[in-house]
Amino acid sequence: MRSFADSNDDGVGDLPGITSRFDYLRSLGVDGLWLTPFYPSPQKDHGYDVADYYGVNPEYGTLDDFDRLVEEAHRHGIKVLIDIVPNHTSSRHPWFEAALSAPDDPHRTWYYFVPGRDGAPPNNWQSAFGGPAWSQLEGVPEWYMHLFAPEQPDLNWWNPVVPAEFRKIITYWLDRGADGFRIDVAVSLYKRRDLADRPIVPDRITGAPTTAPGFEILDQPEVHDVYRDWRQIAETYEPERVLVGEIFDPRRQSRYIKQDELQMAFAMMDRLWEASAWKRRIDVYRRAVSHGTSFPSWTQSNHDVVRHVTRLGGDGLGRERAKASALLLLGLPGQYFIYQGEELGLEEAYVPPERREDPLYILSNGRHEGRDGCRVPMPWRQHEPNAGFSTSPPWLPMPPGWGRNAVDAQAHSSGSMLSLYRRVLVVRRGLARRLPPRMRWAAAPKDCLIYHRGPLSVACNFGHRPLELDLPGRLLLGSSPGVRRSATRLLMPPNSSAWLETRRSAGS
Ligand code: NOJ
Repeated sequence: MRSFADSNDDGVGDLPGITSRFDYLRSLGVDGLWLTPFYPSPQKDHGYDVADYYGVNPEYGTLDDFDRLVEEAHRHGIKVLIDIVPNHTSSRHPWFEAALSAPDDPHRTWYYFVPGRDGAPPNNWQSAFGGPAWSQLEGVPEWYMHLFAPEQPDLNWWNPVVPAEFRKIITYWLDRGADGFRIDVAVSLYKRRDLADRPIVPDRITGAPTTAPGFEILDQPEVHDVYRDWRQIAETYEPERVLVGEIFDPRRQSRYIKQDELQMAFAMMDRLWEASAWKRRIDVYRRAVSHGTSFPSWTQSNHDVVRHVTRLGGDGLGRERAKASALLLLGLPGQYFIYQGEELGLEEAYVPPERREDPLYILSNGRHEGRDGCRVPMPWRQHEPNAGFSTSPPWLPMPPGWGRNAVDAQAHSSGSMLSLYRRVLVVRRGLARRLPPRMRWAAAPKDCLIYHRGPLSVACNFGHRPLELDLPGRLLLGSSPGVRRSATRLLMPPNSSAWLETRRSAGS
């Protein structure tokens, strides 16, 4: 939300900014948009601390701006998914403020307020951002649970008023034209009822005390009733709406991606650049999700992880590999989620510690770098101040040279990351009808992966050496100019991918 496009030059991205960029999104070739939370929020976790589920943060615009965005998106044939945050609210949400207003206020039961143990928290659960998952407010004898920041109190889904409220919320946004939801921490809504301590065991390698694996505090069976209910609601709309769970663990995905629950979750490709590791990861996600009408949602970057150009080696090498990985993944059955700026090959940016805003950095006392580096705003125009994002300084500073990656610097260069993304999305759309829902791996030399999917063959050379492959077919796309076809062979430089079209029959 904050980093895509700024319409009013206050240094923060907003809804009208996104609306003004539909030509760009259309030319990129995307089918849908996922907006991170735009609700009124004190922004303690950049919108994932919601103070009102029915509104728009004034920094980002108004409800009318949301309606215009949806209308414009639909006019361009683009769907709009919005983020729903059902696990926790902001501590400034009226429900939580009411809960704090009096010990017997019924809203206490909407959250987890639990007496402590001799001045210590009720159990040993830890917050994902560091420190105990419990805080005690002044004048309140009990502790309240927050699996994230203290300003994000967890809702108590065991209280039926909470699911009832969220039914209203999702219906409200579907009625307003949202095409679906990305569900934040989708497996977390219900916590284990006994709130038991996590057992502490010695770490297998270091022997240091650590929490026991396999002791589940989330992922309770009741959460599936919620998603079955939401799916039923979604199916009453035309065209059908989509539910995407923020779930990365493939074992969990297979339990949530069902005909009557969620349609999608994220297949996060965070492995080292190594052919066999990528193949295994791809297969694990395919097995977890590819059934019925659901397929993996291939993902390499998002607003929570180090940008993948950097993870893959950074600089020219990282970009070469990122081009190759994009072609490798975009040929597979399934969806692909592009994180804004990945189509420009953006790297993780250095954000000086005093400018970091991420609670993960702040609450871990700097032990974790934080996620600001992947959230630095989009560079639109190379030679304008702040790379054309805003005339005011952007909410996170851009590192020197950020403008070199700008959209206008790449748009007309055939070798750019942006041109490759545009080309591959055009070709993919053109082939879509002929691509069967299944693919199969073919024998490949060391450091190389090859698969066939109907008329499409995809090869990726992960190695440090060029490869020559006996692979038939017309060369549709190469991730680098060095990918070439001779009469009989396909020439592949290191860290490159190719798309070939053959006359194989569908399903082969
Ligand atoms: C996952 C979101 O992607 C992340 O940005 C956020 O901090 C946590 N959920 C808590 O809502």
